[in-house]
Amino acid sequence: MDYVSVKDIRVPALGFGTWALNGRAAYEATRQALDLGYRHIDTAQIYGNETEIGRAIKDSGIARGDIFLTTKVSPANLHAGAAKRSHEESLRRLGLDCVDLLLVHWPNAAVPVGETLTALAQLRAEGKTRLIGVSNFTVRLLTEAVERHGADLFCNQIEYHPFLAQRAVRQALNGYDMMLTAYAPVARGRVFDDKTLVAIGRQHGKSAAQVALRWLLDQKNVAAVPKAARREHAAANIDIFDFRLTPDDRAAIDALADGERLVEWGGYAPDWDRA
Ligand SMILES: NC(=O)c1ccc[n+]([C@@H]2O[C@H](COP(=O)([O-])OP(=O)(O)OC[C@H]3O[C@@H](n4cnc5c(N)ncnc54)[C@H](OP(=O)(O)O)[C@@H]3O)[C@@H](O)[C@H]2O)c1
Repeated sequence: MDYVSVKDIRVPALGFGTWALNGRAAYEATRQALDLGYRHIDTAQIYGNETEIGRAIKDSGIARGDIFLTTKVSPANLHAGAAKRSHEESLRRLGLDCVDLLLVHWPNAAVPVGETLTALAQLRAEGKTRLIGVSNFTVRLLTEAVERHGADLFCNQIEYHPFLAQRAVRQALNGYDMMLTAYAPVARGRVFDDKTLVAIGRQHGKSAAQVALRWLLDQKNVAAVPKAARREHAAANIDIFDFRLTPDDRAAIDALADGERLVEWGGYAPDWDRA
């Protein structure tokens, strides 16, 4: 496993995404991921699977301190009272006193960002999360959070894969010494048939998905949370620590970006950075 080290915190760089996994499937997939060696799990209030994720972690027998767990406050719960109440409910569902990272899932233009970040900082001070951060924040929103409100943010979780360069946000995150967690890191399947990724994979005895994940994790302060219900997919995604891309491979992958964004949430999606 590779690790991201940000603000003296060490996070397993490859995590496990759990969106669209519900009920028994969420439990089984999370147990399977932990069994395969994943130690970083990504959930959210709106995924409706915190109960199953919490049970899978408990039943795994793995020490709580060995797992980095993220959950996210729904954009419908961003007023201070709702943020605090809803996180208490998340903890109850997870069966835990504290998560490692609590994120604002999507910005909500109807709620002042400073109000939400103050509430999250209070939850951190109360020991209900070790770290706080945001998701789907643009450079403008990040700047407002950090420079205007003085928020001590650990992470911005954003869509990031070889087809979406995210240059502007990456530069801002590096400036603030924050982790970038890449969601939809295998572009929900688009990477699998990409000729460049397939050809690079062939040279290393790896698949296009493994090449895309290796490319992400080779970057400073970047973690990735691919979702895989199928055991062979989850196993393949964590089998990326025995090869390295060459500078030519990296340049070819860098050239794939065409700006395609796969994830939007009408009503909450911000005015995305174009670069
Ligand atoms: N913060 C946010 O707003 C936000 C938004 C979207 C996602 N996320 C997080 O990011 C996670 C990942 O994103 P995502 O689920 O949208 O997309 P993704 O991880 O890019 O793609 C998941 C899909 O790819 C398949 N897959 C994964 N690895 C594979 C492999 N090695 N070979 C073949 N197929 C493979 C999975 O199949 P199977 O499941 O059948 O194995 C699944 O259909 C989510 O689960 C969630 O935790 C966060």
